[in-house]
Formats: sequence, C-alpha cells, structure tokens
Amino acid sequence: MTISITGLTKSFDATQVLRGIDLKVEDGELLALLGPSGSGKTTLLRIIAGLEWPDAGQLVVAGQDWLALPAQKRRIGFVFQHYALFPHMTVRDNIAFGLTVRPRSERPAPAQIDATVDNLLNLLQIPHLADRFPGQLSGGQRQRVALGRALAIQPAVLLLDEPFGALDAAIRRDLRRWLREVHEKTGSTTIFVTHDQEEAFELADRVVVMGDGQISQIGTADEIHDHPASAFVAQFMGASITLPVTLRGGRAEAPGLDARELMTCAEADGPGQLHLRPDSIALESDPASPWVLTRKDSNGTDLRLVLTGPDDSQIDVDLPRRGAPALVVGGHFRLRPLWGAMFSDAGPVAPAAPIRLSA
Ligand SMILES: Nc1ncnc2c1ncn2[C@@H]1O[C@H](COP(=O)(O)OP(=O)(O)OP(=O)(O)O)[C@@H](O)[C@H]1O
Ligand SMILES: [Mg+2]
Repeated sequence: MTISITGLTKSFDATQVLRGIDLKVEDGELLALLGPSGSGKTTLLRIIAGLEWPDAGQLVVAGQDWLALPAQKRRIGFVFQHYALFPHMTVRDNIAFGLTVRPRSERPAPAQIDATVDNLLNLLQIPHLADRFPGQLSGGQRQRVALGRALAIQPAVLLLDEPFGALDAAIRRDLRRWLREVHEKTGSTTIFVTHDQEEAFELADRVVVMGDGQISQIGTADEIHDHPASAFVAQFMGASITLPVTLRGGRAEAPGLDARELMTCAEADGPGQLHLRPDSIALESDPASPWVLTRKDSNGTDLRLVLTGPDDSQIDVDLPRRGAPALVVGGHFRLRPLWGAMFSDAGPVAPAAPIRLSA
C-alpha cells in the first residue's frame, strides 16, 4: 500500500508540532523516521494510525482517504514506543488478540486463528514461548510478541515507534536484522521510528530525517551520509564538531586543516562552516599547525583525544587505539578529515553545481 501525505499540519494548543509534512511511502517500503526528541515523529505515526487528527493536510493510502476512516477501519499494526502486552494473557492469546476481537462476521474460525498464530510464532522464532505470560519474558522477547500482535491482522501498514528503544545494543542489532527479514517475508509497508541513525541506516530502504516538525531530508543511507542537506542533518549524523573555514572552489581551507579527502561541495566561495565527526578525522604531525594535542585518554579500543586550536577552541577526536600513530600530548597536528559537510554562510552556488568525488 502506498502512503501519500501532503501538507500535514498539527498543533497542540499554541505549539505547532507538524509544520507541513509531505511524504510518499512506496508499497512494501521500509521507511525509517529519524529525528531528535520532540521533532514530531510519534505525532505523525499517531495521525497515520487514526489516534490523532491533523489540523490540515491529506493522508491517502492505496488511493483511499484515510482521514475519512476511523482508526479501527485502517488495518494498522502499531508497536508503540512504550509497549504494553496484556499481562493476564499468554503469548499466544496476545498475538491472537486483534483477530479474536473482530466482529463475528469478520472473525476467522478458531482453527484458522491458531494456524495464523503458529505461523507468527515460528516467524518470530518464539514457538517455545507460546504459553508463557508477558511477565515471564525478557524485554527482547516481549518486543517480538508485540510485533507478532501487530502483524497478526495482516496490516496494510505497519507502524513501529522505537520498538527496540529499551533494549541493549547487542539485542537491538539482532532484532534489527530479524525485523528486516520479517519485513521481507510479509511485505508490509512499514514506517519505523528511531533515534538511532545507525539503526535507521541499516534497516531502511530510505530514511526521513525530521527536525522541528518538518522533514529536513529524505534519501537512502548513502545519499544522506554523503550529502547532508543542512547543518542540522550533518549534526544529527554525529558531526558534533563545527569549524569556521573559508570555502574556495567547493573546498574548505583553514589553518592546520587538510581537507583533501573531502568531496567538493556546491557552496559559494567565502566564509562557511565545516561539520566533522570526532571518529572520522586523521591526525598528522605538523609543527606548523595551530592544533595542539592537550588530552589523551583510552577506553581500551579507542583513544579519546582533545585538541586545542585557534582562539582556544577545542575539538574531540576518536581514533582506534591499535595502529594509532605515536601521539604525544603537547604535539602539533594537522586535521585530515575523512568525512565532512560544509555550508557557506552565503548558501549554495546558483545554479547548483554538480557534486563530484575528489580524485
Ligand atoms: N497530546 C499532546 N498534547 C500536547 N502536546 C503534545 C501532545 N503530544 C505530543 N505533544 C508535543 O508535541 C511535540 C512532538 O511530540 P512527539 O511525541 O511527536 O515527538 P517525538 O519526535 O516522537 O519525540 P520522542 O523522540 O521523544 O518520542 C512535543 O513537544 C510534545 O510535547
Ligand atoms: Mg516519540
């Protein structure tokens, strides 16, 4: 089912939470919705689910006006941010719930419900848990059951609001891979909300970055990684370092900076900002550089470095400990970023120049 959203706005009291969302989700696509806390992700999902109503805009799913349909007619599977299974029901009954509460005329026969639940238990790899109660499950197992309950009704659209939010990193990774497989088998058009860019990029066909009630960028993981559309997106991608630079011919220049490895940008010449991630900067000894190593810590796998530069500015650099060059506190180093995004204070050059990879 394609989902087509146009001009969607929503305010709570005086606060505008969605400021005109335009978004098209393709049939069978797995779309990740990424954005900081409060950017409106849950609100958007709740509107699609029919739990909330927009002030303006359209929501059309497979050609049908969903704003004219009540929630129970929308065939939505929803796994909530703060999920709740029914504690007094077994895993099997939790998964069957959406089918057993259907009106008699639409309800499948008991044997058919059993067969559907058995299939899902196998797909979710939890057949051995069928007769347990939620209180007897781990967090990751409960998430699988919540997903099973959402999938049981064969949803037209599957909405997942940070389904792995409360789990630790290793389990998240497993569940992520497994969710991708489940998605490929069921083919439901899926919108997956997460805070975690790695999770979004690994899982999704396309990623939507939301900020402050608007869509900041839509693209594949590679497109967003290579060409963040704004400083906000770059910072959200982990570029916590901002350096003042001079842009010339799409390249960044500054004392102690060697930006040769970066792609050229289509930004106007003149003053601008270069956004960098602490984990993608190489250091080279250079007595002429203004950047001085002022602190060096290790967490076992990575070195956490602090460099102090022009006007006492400080930046963090993370390097793998093994293979790191000899780095002596007090030494001068040139910054050689391997990834970065630059924006001119004057904006992009017009017309937009082609963006090419550096030689
Ligand atoms: N029912 C409500 N009444 C008033 N304000 C609300 C309501 N629901 C959400 N908001 C506000 O709308 C904004 C967006 O909330 P939303 O839950 O959509 O954000 P989010 O992107 O899902 O954030 P998080 O990542 O923390 O879950 C927030 O400022 C929130 O306080
Ligand atoms: Mg939320």
